[in-house]
Amino acid sequence: MISPEQVLAALRNVEDPDLKKDLVTLNMIKDLKIVDKQVSFTLELTTPACPMKDMLKNACLNAVKHFVSQEAEVEINITSRVTKPMDTTQLKAIRNIILVSSGKGGVGKSTVASNLAITLAADGAKVGLIDADIYGPSVPIMFDLVGAKPSARETEDGKTLIMPIEKYGIKLLSLGFFADPDQPVPWRGPMASNAVKQLFNDADWGELDYLIVDLPPGTGDIHITITQSFPIAGAVIVTTPQQVALADTRKGLAMFKMPSINIPVLGVIENMAYFTPEELPDNKYYIFGKDGGKELAKSFAVPFLGEIPIVQSITAGGDSGRPVALDKDNKIAVSFTEIAGRVAQQIAINNAQTVAANPLVAEK
Ligand SMILES: Nc1ncnc2c1ncn2[C@@H]1O[C@H](COP(=O)(O)OP(=O)(O)O)[C@@H](O)[C@H]1O
Ligand SMILES: [Mg+2]
Repeated sequence: MISPEQVLAALRNVEDPDLKKDLVTLNMIKDLKIVDKQVSFTLELTTPACPMKDMLKNACLNAVKHFVSQEAEVEINITSRVTKPMDTTQLKAIRNIILVSSGKGGVGKSTVASNLAITLAADGAKVGLIDADIYGPSVPIMFDLVGAKPSARETEDGKTLIMPIEKYGIKLLSLGFFADPDQPVPWRGPMASNAVKQLFNDADWGELDYLIVDLPPGTGDIHITITQSFPIAGAVIVTTPQQVALADTRKGLAMFKMPSINIPVLGVIENMAYFTPEELPDNKYYIFGKDGGKELAKSFAVPFLGEIPIVQSITAGGDSGRPVALDKDNKIAVSFTEIAGRVAQQIAINNAQTVAANPLVAEK
């Protein structure tokens, strides 16, 4: 006879390498059922994009076999419940707001934001995307939604809510949906800040695990407005390897670390890291320099999330309104999946630390 206590004792030997505690203590083992030799339970992860899913599942399996019985027939279901940071006074149904930022335009913020959103949604997370780039909103083009206009709905208490547009499993709102695409700088100063705040407060987002925000380049009003108005899970910094881009990215990154802003930096992504010609797939040409993003991450002691090469399928995907991550077989889609996993992992680690630091409010 196998007892639940035996199985739980065995699973106490499996540690989550990020959270540095065992799975039983972390309350990740649910619905344990035992019938004769059949042991089944659910492993509840902190994100469906967990890069260690398979590793943890195997470790659980081995632990039960090793510590309980070689004869045990073990069935493990994997689910997830995405955690959130502590400060959730506003936007209760939105668990984690992720800012995608850079010092410069044209480095691939929108490309990264769109493909991360698609990858997280493909993993099973509920995902929203806000395009807050007042200078050049590109979500309408990247999602083949040029000219689209979100509808609105009245709530019971008479409030008007903007309905995000759904595409590829993501809820989207872009400043571009509300402006004439051919008008130069359609949004100015306070008007832009108010418009962006409305995209958060006055939209019907429903429940979201991750809300990704594609920020304008630099460190302007929009950054200040968003970071001061909403609880932010963290910022993902996109750079390219050229010195000019790195110099600007450095300033962008330093802004999040300022005491008055103090947003966790989830890590740096180096985009356009190298060029590989289609006919020579094993050759990498570091035309803009090598490892600039990696070194930047190191100098700020933040994680390096990965590099993305220059490939035509990325440009083509963006221009045609079908981001490359939708094509699961594409090598680049795999890179985005790995990067998204690391982003989700960093958020889960940060959220676990805030919970540990505030045990009394954790259950709220
Ligand atoms: N790794 C890449 N390989 C090829 N083209 C890319 C890559 N990253 C971005 N692009 C293209 O470069 C242009 C600028 O990227 P975008 O994401 O709009 O930058 P940003 O939002 O930072 O201004 C777009 O046309 C996009 O498709
Ligand atoms: Mg952009």
